[in-house]
Amino acid sequence: MMTPSDIKATLAFSDGSPSMELPIYKGSIGPDVIDIRKLYAQTGKFTYDPGFLSTASCNSTITYIDGDKGELLYRGYPIEQLAVNCDYLETCYLLLYGELPNASQKEAFNQRVMRHTMVNEQMQFFLRGFRRDAHPMAVMTGLVGALSAFYHDSTDVHNPEHREIAAIRLIAKMPTLVAMAYKYTVGQPYIYPKNDLSYAGNFMRMMFATPCEEYKPNEVLVRAMDRIFTLHADHEQNASTSTVRLCGSSGTNPFAAIAAGVACLWGPAHGGANEACLEMLGDIQQMGGVAKIGEFIGKVKDKNSGVKLMGFGHRVYKNYDPRAKLMRETCYEVLNELGLQDDPLFKLAMELEKIALEDEYFVARKLYPNVDFYSGIVQRAIGIPVPLFTAIFALARTVGWIAQLNEMIGDPEYKIGRPRQLFVGAKSRNVTPLAQR
Ligand code: SDX
Repeated sequence: MMTPSDIKATLAFSDGSPSMELPIYKGSIGPDVIDIRKLYAQTGKFTYDPGFLSTASCNSTITYIDGDKGELLYRGYPIEQLAVNCDYLETCYLLLYGELPNASQKEAFNQRVMRHTMVNEQMQFFLRGFRRDAHPMAVMTGLVGALSAFYHDSTDVHNPEHREIAAIRLIAKMPTLVAMAYKYTVGQPYIYPKNDLSYAGNFMRMMFATPCEEYKPNEVLVRAMDRIFTLHADHEQNASTSTVRLCGSSGTNPFAAIAAGVACLWGPAHGGANEACLEMLGDIQQMGGVAKIGEFIGKVKDKNSGVKLMGFGHRVYKNYDPRAKLMRETCYEVLNELGLQDDPLFKLAMELEKIALEDEYFVARKLYPNVDFYSGIVQRAIGIPVPLFTAIFALARTVGWIAQLNEMIGDPEYKIGRPRQLFVGAKSRNVTPLAQR
């Protein structure tokens, strides 16, 4: 709920232009906002905020982040409590409908989702168009967009029933599509979903089973996979969520809007950081491991090197990302279960974290491990190939994207997103005929 504040902001100009009063709104928690919607009409000026460092694009009830405290709430529930007390589908229900399900609601929702896990048989023929060594995120961007071609009965984003069924379909089919993208790259047959398994158990089976033998899921690994999904489910107005909102604001169908989110998440500054982080750890290992951390950190501090400490830093968190702590615990559980306590990359990551957190460069810039720092190590231990890490991030984030898209479309005040610019290019000029150019 946006509550008008008693405090107003006054915008005054030193050239004597008329000043303007701007309303301030308060949320339930977090920073207030200055409402500038009438600024251009009244002053002929835009605000300027590339990268949106100080811009709230919407009001939302879904996810709250306190970057200074390192706090993350899904619909008011701390991520630490959800990760321990709930599973991913309960979290999906919470993000979509605003409340945790009771036992019968949970059972009904699980049934609905598991009944939509198959994709149209035609979908497999899209994959044949890709090279076998295509990056899974290239495949996923194509496959998710292609869903629009199959579900004409749920593409009207202004129809609440369509939005609801599209949400269920996307949550249900993402694991199937990710597993198909993986199987295609290893030349193995696709494994159909098995609806009597849990959501994460079904995904692990579609990933690792073959028609030749029964797949026996390791419950510790399944639980870890489910927790990885929960930790990645939503995260306020991050780049890919903002992409989904902007894309969806044109009225395009939910599948196309989610495909835009997949494409944005792929970038190494965003969801692609987990893959980049594991590659970084591998490079340091190649250089000589723990003994070479100092040399690597030196490169990171050298602006000209272009080297970043992947999995570190965050636009919002200026404290430890609470998901990184939970991911490190999950990492430990999985490595213990697999007898890999001495996994060299995990030891390297923990030593790197320790050194970075004591280094003035990182302390001064409030750079802490984010969700991507440990997620790659635990996924690698589970047997997920590195190029698939971001596709799994996209699988998990799909529910957050949909919840945010549906919240926007359901807001009677929403309009198509159309930012302006500060134009610094050529003023109007005449075309010189070719012969004189
Ligand atoms: C995700 O937004 C979200 O919520 C995203 C996400 C989600 O769940 O949706 O949390 C998922 O994307 C996590 C972030 C994953 N990305 C990485 O781990 C890549 C490495 N991190 C950086 O690229 C960076 O920290 C960003 C992109 C995450 C944030 O960049 P900002 O907010 O634009 O900060 P900045 O680049 O202005 O950095 C401030 C300073 C700069 O130094 P100075 O110019 O002040 O000297 O910190 C430095 C940066 O050079 N810096 C880093 C660094 N991150 C920032 N230096 C070295 N290594 C890093 N990782």
